[in-house]
Amino acid sequence: MTFQKVLVIGSGGREHTLAWSLARSPQVGRVYLAPGNAGTVWEATDGLAETSNVPITVDDFPGLIAFARDENIDLTVVGPEVPLVAGIADEFTAAGLLVFGPSKAAAQLEGSKAFANDFMKKHGIPSADYRTFTEFEEAQKYLEEASRPVVIKASGLAAGKGVIVLDSLDELRQALRQIMQDRIFGEAGDTVVIEERLSGPEVSLLAFSDGKTVVPMLPARDHKRANDNDEGPNTGGMGCYTPVPDVSAADIEHITKTILQPTVDGMRKQGTPYSGVLYAGLMKTADGFKIIEFNCRFGDPETQVILPLLESDLFEIAKACAEGRLDEVDIRWNDGGCATVVLASPGYPGSYPKGLPISGLDKAAQHEGVTVFHAGTAFDGSGQLVTNGGRVLNVSAEGSDLPEALRRAYSAIDDIHFDGMHFRRDIGKNYA
Ligand code: AMP
Ligand code: GLY
Repeated sequence: MTFQKVLVIGSGGREHTLAWSLARSPQVGRVYLAPGNAGTVWEATDGLAETSNVPITVDDFPGLIAFARDENIDLTVVGPEVPLVAGIADEFTAAGLLVFGPSKAAAQLEGSKAFANDFMKKHGIPSADYRTFTEFEEAQKYLEEASRPVVIKASGLAAGKGVIVLDSLDELRQALRQIMQDRIFGEAGDTVVIEERLSGPEVSLLAFSDGKTVVPMLPARDHKRANDNDEGPNTGGMGCYTPVPDVSAADIEHITKTILQPTVDGMRKQGTPYSGVLYAGLMKTADGFKIIEFNCRFGDPETQVILPLLESDLFEIAKACAEGRLDEVDIRWNDGGCATVVLASPGYPGSYPKGLPISGLDKAAQHEGVTVFHAGTAFDGSGQLVTNGGRVLNVSAEGSDLPEALRRAYSAIDDIHFDGMHFRRDIGKNYA
């Protein structure tokens, strides 16, 4: 058998996890990351193919395509949403390269909240009531006259900051002005969606799709606020866990039937088949599960708890999605639990220093079931591992159940240090 070569595009904890999971495939001989981080380079070991970083940025499509061609890459897996929404999958496909990720037209499910809401309405997919605005005066009038609580969303990509959930009308008025008039999110806020405010626990259900077949992964729950007890500002995610005890197997079947499959069917009928990862951000309301957002990619940090429990071969699944034959693949999961805790820089999600020395990773990695995924790390001039982002490390641990996974993750964290390191101590606490 000839070994396959895979290219992973991106540089965070999600991409480290993708590379690690792909490197576990017996079919894969080498994984490249563009650009990767300090944790994404390793030698081949028993059961893990070697990896290396390539200094090409995620927006340099010609550079990435030239690399994939020169190295005879068999499959490219795209991590972040920005290149997908900008059409990277279309360009790889046009160049004759196999890619796992949706086309530009399909990625609009994340790239345009106005598109996603219109799509869900047209196809009867349960979601919040909404109106779309391109004129500030009209949006303002609607906001003033709304008879029930609303949230405001910049329609375009805003690095996860474009959703405004505030209690007072005054604050909502100000947010609308900032988005549409001060243009704090640039053109992402030229179109705004004002949506009914839903309430209930949230869950992320990601699925593999080849444009026709859809297979849900394990459900995961992210903790978005910076501090314990869901206090403090919103972040990209401070920790995550699976399984989610209040989301049953019957719930997942129901979500697949009422949301995931109709979405994939609807996109195909519209002539823009959806292949890649379809990420449904859901709220369990008194009226059942409803969509609050679609993403066109793996979640971060959801991936860091979902993929460690994947017993099947991620390379085989991703290739089958890209080739439109997902129905041929058997997807199996470990029935234990997995948790990840994000170790963040002092100040995150506000401004934070970089270059702080990190210690203790070797010791942490020796804990049973623990894998430390790097999210924002680099080597300094003297070869010392240092912080290089807001979210620095993701300490993931598997266990026979969720409480064991959580105990293992927190005990490994005791070995890790960098100045000002902060993390939540209550990941999964109310559910384990
Ligand atoms: P997003 O950036 O789309 O992940 O949204 C950020 C957060 O906003 C979500 O995790 C929800 O907590 C909240 N949110 C989004 N849409 C709604 C809604 N219609 N009602 C209530 N909360 C929402
Ligand atoms: N964890 C949230 C996201 O990936 O969008």
